[in-house]
Amino acid sequence: MQRLVIEGEKKLSGEISVHGAKNSALPLLAACVLAKGETVLHNCPKLSDVYAALRILACLGCKCIREEGSVSVNTDSLTHFNVPDELMSQMRSSIVFLGAILGRIGRCRLSFPGGCELGPRPIDMHIAALEQMGAKITEEHGTLDCDVGKGLHGAKIVLSFPSVGATENIILAAATAKGTTVIHNAAREPEISDLARFLNACGAKISGFGEDTVYIEGVKELHGCEYEVMPDRIVLATYMSAAAITGSELTFKNIRVQDVEAIIPVFEQMGCAVCPIENKMFFSAAKSLRACKTIRTMPFPGFPTDAQAVVMAALSKARGTSIVVENIFSSRFGHVDELCKMGADIKAEGKIAVINGVKRLSGAKVRATDLRGGAALVVAGLGAQGITEISDIKYIDRGYECIEQAFSSVGAVIRRV
Ligand code: EPZ
Repeated sequence: MQRLVIEGEKKLSGEISVHGAKNSALPLLAACVLAKGETVLHNCPKLSDVYAALRILACLGCKCIREEGSVSVNTDSLTHFNVPDELMSQMRSSIVFLGAILGRIGRCRLSFPGGCELGPRPIDMHIAALEQMGAKITEEHGTLDCDVGKGLHGAKIVLSFPSVGATENIILAAATAKGTTVIHNAAREPEISDLARFLNACGAKISGFGEDTVYIEGVKELHGCEYEVMPDRIVLATYMSAAAITGSELTFKNIRVQDVEAIIPVFEQMGCAVCPIENKMFFSAAKSLRACKTIRTMPFPGFPTDAQAVVMAALSKARGTSIVVENIFSSRFGHVDELCKMGADIKAEGKIAVINGVKRLSGAKVRATDLRGGAALVVAGLGAQGITEISDIKYIDRGYECIEQAFSSVGAVIRRV
């Protein structure tokens, strides 16, 4: 089993590039199913979740080739509609293949998706919306059998919560459905806009994305295109947290400031200077970090739940008391106990965590409990005195491309053993 070993309290300096976004690349790969011919995705991150998505595409009959940062997917020989259980259980976003496969083939068989354990993660909104669009969905022994009969049709769908995955699934299913679909209370995350822009480049007619009402006028068919995956805003938040906790000055390349508008003020309250210019961000940490006002995780444009853990790691060394309220997932504080093993003073109950900043964190043997919780331990390890050893790093590899290389390149002492 691989581990990350970090010798902490080293100052970081230089430039670090942000790779393509996992949470955009995965729905884009699912969307390839809808496009006839070849599609090329550039800036596609090398992550275990991306490899799992490529394996799903291969199981459906697609030809996938990875060359450095690009992936090409040819769907000319796509004929299958079964997604193997083993691949469904590997990641939550495998569920967005449902809308895409139904749109292309009209049938799909898959099991309930797996993914990071953050509390119950139902797919009721996905299913209800697809049924409204004409899909017949039956469940037996954990397998979903879906059939669209004569085809999917447009519908007016009102989501009870702006679910990212449900919005993506509806957009995918609606892209080639008969008529127009309108999604009210749609998720507004930048990854939704990336998906809509990609589909439009393939010939779809989607408008309103990035707002809470999205309109999808179904077209007959989609064609392949070349597209560049957006940069990963949560990786950027992780790098900012690492710079903050180590008191460093770093430059981040390949960023989009509009995606992190809710995160920047938190670091500014901590006393850090953040200066974005075009697609770069200059970050200078405070000499001594200060606690910040209450952070409440919210759907975009609010503070993202995915950045909660890494920012909490930085706050664990900030002078004063900070409060984090996790509003999206019912169980997303798995990292708290591990941070406490490193000397952090954090109390979590229900959806609230109270962080009393400590002067020093000290290295310890800790375990990644989920993707972002694992990244938080890396951040804490970089800012801790002595050696931190993180196990179960398979979670971290789901969303960070060679995290040890990224941090080593700016002076961290971190290696994979
Ligand atoms: C996406 O998950 C992301 N995953 C998550 O990132 C992210 O944390 C989340 O959106 C919120 O921003 C991908 O994009 C692959 P949701 P998703 O549907 O789509 C409830 C990471 O670390 N819900 O917006 O699963 C659900 O239980 C990951 O990269 C229902 O009740 O999130 C949750 O409480 C983790 N019924 C809330 O909505 C449904 O049918 C938000 O979930 C669907 C969701």
